[in-house]
Amino acid sequence: MKLCMIGTGYVGLVTGTCFSDIGNDVICADVDNNKIKNLNLGTIPIYEPGLEEMVKRNVNQGRLKFSNDVSDAIRKSDIIFICVGTPTNKKTNEADLKYVFQVARKIKFNLNKYKIIVNKSTVPVTTGDKIESILKRNKFKSKYDVVSNPEFLREGEAIRDFVVPDRVVIGTKSKKALKIMRSLYLPIIKKNSRFFSTSRRGAELIKYASNAFLATKISFINEMANFCEESDINIEDISVGMGLDQRIGERFLRAGPGYGGSCFPKDTRAIVSLAKRFKVNLSIINSAIKSNKNRTKILFNRILKIVNNKFKNKSIAFLGVTFKANTDDMRESPCLSLIPALISKGAKINYYEPTGQKKELDKYKNVTFSKKVSDATKKADLIIVHTEWNEFKQLNLRKLLKNKKVIVYDMRNIYSPEKMKKIGIKYYGIGR
Ligand code: UGA
Repeated sequence: MKLCMIGTGYVGLVTGTCFSDIGNDVICADVDNNKIKNLNLGTIPIYEPGLEEMVKRNVNQGRLKFSNDVSDAIRKSDIIFICVGTPTNKKTNEADLKYVFQVARKIKFNLNKYKIIVNKSTVPVTTGDKIESILKRNKFKSKYDVVSNPEFLREGEAIRDFVVPDRVVIGTKSKKALKIMRSLYLPIIKKNSRFFSTSRRGAELIKYASNAFLATKISFINEMANFCEESDINIEDISVGMGLDQRIGERFLRAGPGYGGSCFPKDTRAIVSLAKRFKVNLSIINSAIKSNKNRTKILFNRILKIVNNKFKNKSIAFLGVTFKANTDDMRESPCLSLIPALISKGAKINYYEPTGQKKELDKYKNVTFSKKVSDATKKADLIIVHTEWNEFKQLNLRKLLKNKKVIVYDMRNIYSPEKMKKIGIKYYGIGR
């Protein structure tokens, strides 16, 4: 099939590349000339394991192309995926749809034959209806169907999530569009994924509701971790014991520094504001947002206790600063509120991050970047394991931390408290 992705950000690039990998002809189009120039030179703008090789393979086979001529890409394609950003509108907290509507207008002027317009951007309920009304008066009088097909790709696991998704959700009333979308996804559905069709508004809400539910699940387990810390219980046992109930499920029950990234914070805010427009109060999601915001304060107070209220000139090493492992993304990373709070009390921060130095932290005088774990931890009084990168899991801590006075605060519970005790290191985890 002939497809185009409009927007070569995370979603467009991964989805386009994966669709080309199962044999489709795909154009990934973007108005950002620089991005397209770099992609044509083989430079991938995001860090996503496995993506670079997959892009190369499909470009070499001639199935994957990058173009800054969005109109041409639309005209040449049968299915057009809208994959542009929907950032938070700072005034309303709702998703800002200006890029989505810009693309819809571009499609309207290039609708030279029947096409399916698939919205993959995360959008509020009724956005599909609005896209449809923009397309209504196209000069070609062409037929079209506007479909919602939300994405469920996790950063760092995006290729796997595309290839073996739990489900593919299609929102449309059109039998024709549904049949085409089913055949497009057939190679993936065959791998035991559920293909689920619903109304367009239904599909739009499934996306927001899923992210909001997962964010709530994380806030829930984080609050249980707070409880465990006060009652001498290990949160890891609670996660396992709860997760064994299939109605609850074991995934997304890992306590940690709070959820971050470009999706959960943005989408939880957006769904709460959207619901207000429909005069509905989503109080549970609202509480999850508040609970996650409060996480910095809780972690900060715990650190205060760990260092006996003495921050002045304390050297703190951060291992990992991205919002989770396998990504270079810093958006809404928990450390972005924790680090300023620590330095305002006189602490000095030295961080190591596998994806390199971060511009978000450059503005702080007392924050420095080290290229090696050993450099970051050399003079540390306290080591904070902030991101669960694999390379931290089997560190030879006995060798690394010759200074036995150092304290380790493991915000991802990747180390065993018993082992740490054995090697004589003062150790704290989350919820245990
Ligand atoms: C999330 C969803 O998982 C995807 O399904 C969705 O497609 C995507 O948002 C999106 O809307 O585009 P992502 O933000 O990449 O994906 O990352 P997650 O793996 O979901 O993690 C989000 C945050 O939750 C991270 O800060 C992570 O550390 C935290 N988390 C996750 C926990 O604290 N505990 C857990 O058990 C799981």
